[in-house]
Amino acid sequence: MVSTVIPVQPFDLVIFGATGDLAKRKILPSLYRRLAVGQMPPEARVIGAARSKMTRAEFRKMVSESLEEFVQPKLLKPETVETFLGLVDYVTVDATGTNGWSTLCKKLNERPDVIRAFYLSVAPFLFEEIAHRLAETGCSTPECRIVIEKPLGHDLQSAKKLNASLSQVFDEGQIYRIDHYLGKETVQNLMAIRFANALFEPLWNSGFIEHVQITVAESVGVEGRGSYYDKSGAMRDMVQNHLMQLLCLTAMEPPSRFDPDAVRDEKLKVIRALDPLKITDTVRGQYRANGKEGGYLDHVGDPHSRTESYVALRVHISNWRWSGTSFYLRTGKKLAARTSEIAVVFKHPPHAIFPQVDEQKGNALIIRLQPDEGITFRMTIKEPGPGGMRLAEVPLDMTFADALGEEAGEMPEAYERLIMDVVRGDQTLFMRGDEVEAAWAWTDPIIAAWAESGSKPLPYDPGSAGPIDSYKLTMAEGHIWRELLS
Ligand code: BG6
Repeated sequence: MVSTVIPVQPFDLVIFGATGDLAKRKILPSLYRRLAVGQMPPEARVIGAARSKMTRAEFRKMVSESLEEFVQPKLLKPETVETFLGLVDYVTVDATGTNGWSTLCKKLNERPDVIRAFYLSVAPFLFEEIAHRLAETGCSTPECRIVIEKPLGHDLQSAKKLNASLSQVFDEGQIYRIDHYLGKETVQNLMAIRFANALFEPLWNSGFIEHVQITVAESVGVEGRGSYYDKSGAMRDMVQNHLMQLLCLTAMEPPSRFDPDAVRDEKLKVIRALDPLKITDTVRGQYRANGKEGGYLDHVGDPHSRTESYVALRVHISNWRWSGTSFYLRTGKKLAARTSEIAVVFKHPPHAIFPQVDEQKGNALIIRLQPDEGITFRMTIKEPGPGGMRLAEVPLDMTFADALGEEAGEMPEAYERLIMDVVRGDQTLFMRGDEVEAAWAWTDPIIAAWAESGSKPLPYDPGSAGPIDSYKLTMAEGHIWRELLS
């Protein structure tokens, strides 16, 4: 199945922090790929804005090097690269000073009717300042869009302050808060599976679903991001945003329409229905050193750090649909595999007519985010051959790359889809301000409770499945974590 490419309108995208890592690794390569497949029109402009003094030619050289490094070689066609570089421009802008703003505005005002978006790929402490400066200098318009990405605050108070400050100069409908997990193909497929098929929705409740496991496991450690990560930890870095979004999409009620506010209203209701976490519903871990390499404490350079590199949670949602179903969430660094999935585990049949049935694991729908995006439905069938009624579990497997042909193997990266959605003006896959605040309101108390308890995260071995105690969380209710397989 070949995916249909619907070109977007011409646009001007200004990337603040254009010489930074995110721009080089993700934003610029994503735009290039959208041009290569014919979605980004050649009348678009990509205007880099950063403090470094650079000529347009120097910036283009930097862009060309980023493409070489981060775009798959087979997509790098010299004529397309040339076209892309022809759309790229650069302005030296001092985000905290006055330099460069008038040049930027002048450039933008050459095309007042073209869609205008500002991607703030900068340190979060600059979000407010740049947003206000865009307004003061007249670079922003009532129709323009502003894009920001986590961390969106550090807690509820700072998230509120950020939202309030942005709302002085932009309407909520102009603010695009990226959670790149929402741009992942399978995450959107979760909505398609639930709401475009009649099969699952009648069973999608605590009457039929025993429990749900949401896992985002990473095999890498904190790498070079120790100083940021140590102030965040897995709860702030992953749970408050990415895992929360996965939980919402799994648990939300069907929206009445697939439009941004209808979807986001339903997600918000899930967050607001979450029971407050008790400390006994949580397990924190920190990877330790092994013979070969240092552990978390070495990586962040603080032998006393109590920041968690792993967290497992047992979560309950107090509403009619989910009362009685546990949702287990876990995420961590330096685990056995890089694997992200949502496993929806169904109850056993109400009456067992086959003697073996209790040993069976039962039906489960596994939605794999990475690697090998796809969906598996675990079923119990009869083992082939004579010899009585022996049962076996088989996966009904749909790996998107296999099922949808080669094209699907090159599914657009999250940023490609999200940037095109900004241009289209579609906020469905972006977080609304109240969602972000509600998520902090739920995570803040448990972070505070950990600090007050004076306890330390439990050590775990790199390459393991996290602290042993995380198994106690699930086993207390007769459940077991799925194995971490890459
Ligand atoms: C980021 C976190 O938001 O997501 C990182 O800050 C994490 O710590 C990353 O590694 C994981 O993203 P992905 O797409 O590789 O699963």
